[in-house]
Amino acid sequence: MEDRLIFDSRYVVGIEQVDREHQKLFELASKIYDNLALDVILPMKEIRSAITELVDSTKVHFANEEALMVANAYPGLAEHRELHAYLIYRIEEFEKSVEDGEQFTPVDAYEFLCSWLGDHIQASDRNFGEYFSRNAEHQ
Ligand SMILES: [Fe+2]
Repeated sequence: MEDRLIFDSRYVVGIEQVDREHQKLFELASKIYDNLALDVILPMKEIRSAITELVDSTKVHFANEEALMVANAYPGLAEHRELHAYLIYRIEEFEKSVEDGEQFTPVDAYEFLCSWLGDHIQASDRNFGEYFSRNAEHQ
């Protein structure tokens, strides 16, 4: 099993702005993973600020992605918005459990961040990427 999230071709959506923002989210997620993976008691405020940064950047990114979907009349917009709302809910729950002092093993954190972000990109954002490139061809 990989020990941290790496942005590679499996996650490329094919829309420059989206890919750039995803890459940034991966970096932020890796930072949290690295913090949690360290076998020492870390100042919680470091983990907290990394999570807050990820939550804030995610919100901005989702808004940007949805704006791009609106601009391109993406038919899957409503459904995608719901997925984003759910992902925000999940990451805020994660944030809250860290605030509450819950302990995470690196594997838990990895699996959470991987499914939370990685699966969404592979399952849903890539559909938008395909739609986007099909549309671009006809312009
Ligand atoms: Fe998305």
